[in-house]
Amino acid sequence: MENIIVLDFGGQYSQLIARRVRELRVFSELVSYDMPIEKIKAKNPKGIILSGSPSSITAKDIGYIVDKELFNLDIPVLGICYGMQLIAYMLNGEVTNSGTNEYGKTRINIDTSSLLFDGLQSVETCWMSHKDSVYLLPPFFRTIASTPNLPIAGIEEPFKKIYGIQFHPEVIHTPSGMDILKNFLFKICKCSPIWTTVSIIEKEVNEIKEKSAGGKVICALSGGVDSSVAAILVNKAVGERLTCIFVDHGMLRSGETEQVEKTFKDNFKINLVLVKAQDRFLSKLKGVTEPEQKRKIIGTEFIRIFEEEAKKIKDANYLVQGTLYSDVIESGTKNAAKIKSHHNVGGLPEDMQLKLIEPLRMLFKDEVRVLGIELGLPEEIVLRQPFPGPGLAIRIIGEVTGKRLEILQKADSIVIEEIKRAGLYNKIWQSFAVLPAIKSVGVMGDERTYDYPIVVRAVSSEDAMTADWVRLPYKVLEKLSSRIINEVEGVNRVVYDISSKPPSTIEWE
Ligand code: XMP
Repeated sequence: MENIIVLDFGGQYSQLIARRVRELRVFSELVSYDMPIEKIKAKNPKGIILSGSPSSITAKDIGYIVDKELFNLDIPVLGICYGMQLIAYMLNGEVTNSGTNEYGKTRINIDTSSLLFDGLQSVETCWMSHKDSVYLLPPFFRTIASTPNLPIAGIEEPFKKIYGIQFHPEVIHTPSGMDILKNFLFKICKCSPIWTTVSIIEKEVNEIKEKSAGGKVICALSGGVDSSVAAILVNKAVGERLTCIFVDHGMLRSGETEQVEKTFKDNFKINLVLVKAQDRFLSKLKGVTEPEQKRKIIGTEFIRIFEEEAKKIKDANYLVQGTLYSDVIESGTKNAAKIKSHHNVGGLPEDMQLKLIEPLRMLFKDEVRVLGIELGLPEEIVLRQPFPGPGLAIRIIGEVTGKRLEILQKADSIVIEEIKRAGLYNKIWQSFAVLPAIKSVGVMGDERTYDYPIVVRAVSSEDAMTADWVRLPYKVLEKLSSRIINEVEGVNRVVYDISSKPPSTIEWE
């Protein structure tokens, strides 16, 4: 498999570079900038891209450099932003921080005789975001781009195939960015556009077959897209030897358990152990109102049940996890400034002594979705909005009781139905209902009521790290309000949450 390696110096667009390369149908891996040169060589890449960085070449202590040998491997190199400055610095050019800062859209003059800019206009728009700049070319290099403020905005050494650009081709604000990446991949690195998400199926299936040779495999299904796609892939490889365990803690969205049962047991004929444990969870949660305690109780109980069930499967020695590439990157590169903790399904214990099978570890979330559709999973599963492990319990403020769960489940399914009817479901990161622990006075018919409100929350987000509330059309809000109040007993008021994250969070607990 042809591979483009992106060396990550911690820039905010590093992941995006790898994704763009994959969109052009060449496989790409993001690895830490300090991966030893021998390891890089062993991967046999067709090209190497150096990412941007929050670090500075002109700082006293340049932490982020590479082995000079990288430029002698006879493998094309493209440096982007910091990557270009690093090339200049390491190959005896000079970088300064006394030049002009440039941020945002910038007009740039380019030399279209460079293979990197082949087919482009001589003046283009690009996205800049830098303080430092190259002011002296390394020997044998020439300038291939400039802006009115920046004489050296692009460099090349065509014989060694080393290129650098100060701007970001991977962001949409550089309209010809994809053409520049195409030139690098296809004209300079001589890659072929043949990689697809689907091409990973066969490779993974073979690897899993080999790895698990004859052993039994278990998988904790959550009903979400990652564990579902992972389970189907593993099933393709090991068939009968796979058993999926689905613990229904009773705090799922309405209809979810039935859907999992229908999909996995009926359609895919997968061995499915369905553990209906609502009573067990509710009795543990009785009287508990503290959010962290709720999470802990649910997490611990989940693990207990999972272990009990896993023990019943004699000689199981492998555990499937739906770990994604973004999880691997986040835990794997120490330079990413914004590492978030990632929870696997229910936080399964490490001491289970099962070997891990992680068939999605090379894929991004949207690629997993494509794969899910390709593998025949229903859209309702593949395109489902994210849902927290502890489920509706963290959307019920105060005590979780059967009655309060029922109220929230009904209100939540109305929210989902109406958002879908308005054609917004797949455009919104998450949309759901929350049940607070307060009551207010209302009037229904001629009667005074004293009931719960329902909070509707709809947010847009790229990665759940930040989020904004969605400006839902009044018509949709109106429909939600009237349906929830009319159809859900115990509710007499609907409010809309207009807080962004930060300072709020997406969930209420
Ligand atoms: P917050 O509320 O922190 O949520 O803004 C960010 C994203 O994470 C989801 N979430 C969870 N997912 N287990 C999970 O698997 C959890 O305990 C959990 N808590 C929050 C939340 O739905 C949102 O997408």
